[in-house]
Amino acid sequence: MSDDPGIFEMMHSMRTMRMLKKDPVPQEMIHKILDAGIRAPSGQNTQRWGFLVVTDEEGKRFFGERYDYWMRNRFGDALKDVDYGTAYGRTIRAAMHLSENMHEAPVLLFCCGKRDWPFAVPPDKRVGRAPASHGSIYPCVQNILLACRALGLGASLTTMHQMFEPEMHEFYKIPEDYGVVAVIPIGFPKGKFGPVSREPVETKTHYGRWGNQVPEQG
Ligand SMILES: Cc1cc2nc3c(=O)[nH]c(=O)nc-3n(C[C@H](O)[C@H](O)[C@H](O)COP(=O)(O)O)c2cc1C
Repeated sequence: MSDDPGIFEMMHSMRTMRMLKKDPVPQEMIHKILDAGIRAPSGQNTQRWGFLVVTDEEGKRFFGERYDYWMRNRFGDALKDVDYGTAYGRTIRAAMHLSENMHEAPVLLFCCGKRDWPFAVPPDKRVGRAPASHGSIYPCVQNILLACRALGLGASLTTMHQMFEPEMHEFYKIPEDYGVVAVIPIGFPKGKFGPVSREPVETKTHYGRWGNQVPEQG
């Protein structure tokens, strides 16, 4: 694999890299990653994203302790029966490793989005708290993951923070009108990038009418 992989090679080898070295990530790299993130499209180009880059020990420990507590709380029972010989088992093991070591990731990147509603929901039908604008943040998150891959940095898209997000708002002083959509631990990877495992396109694609899996044009 070359040092400068093309976009397709990057997409094919952009594994979730959960095992990270402790070496710090240079600020120029962080800036480059975020500068790639903000090139993403957003609804009406509103760009309602905001990032919090957490590298201090106290900030990382606060997050890591809560993340690990909730991972164990949600998956603790299931862990007993996991067959670590399967792909699923290996993912769970890696996810728990990340959870235990989250506080040691060199960078915790909080990707936030201004809370709003899809246009179609009239004000009187809006129940509960408005969700973060996930649709407009995820292209940005994907750009960030690809930029990390391009720079040889390991990254993981995580969402377990939803279980304790209100505490994050208070501790990190995140404004209430911003939701934390994804938290991406970033660092130089211990392992190697490699092919991602996915079901083939043919099993997911239909042509003309749902159910027809033969392309209409050769
Ligand atoms: C919306 C979303 C949420 C995810 N949340 C977590 C998470 O909380 N913790 C984690 O370790 N991985 C998380 N992942 C990563 C997936 O587990 C991972 O992408 C998937 O298992 C495929 O593995 P790969 O990326 O190495 O190919 C999340 C991925 C997505 C798209």
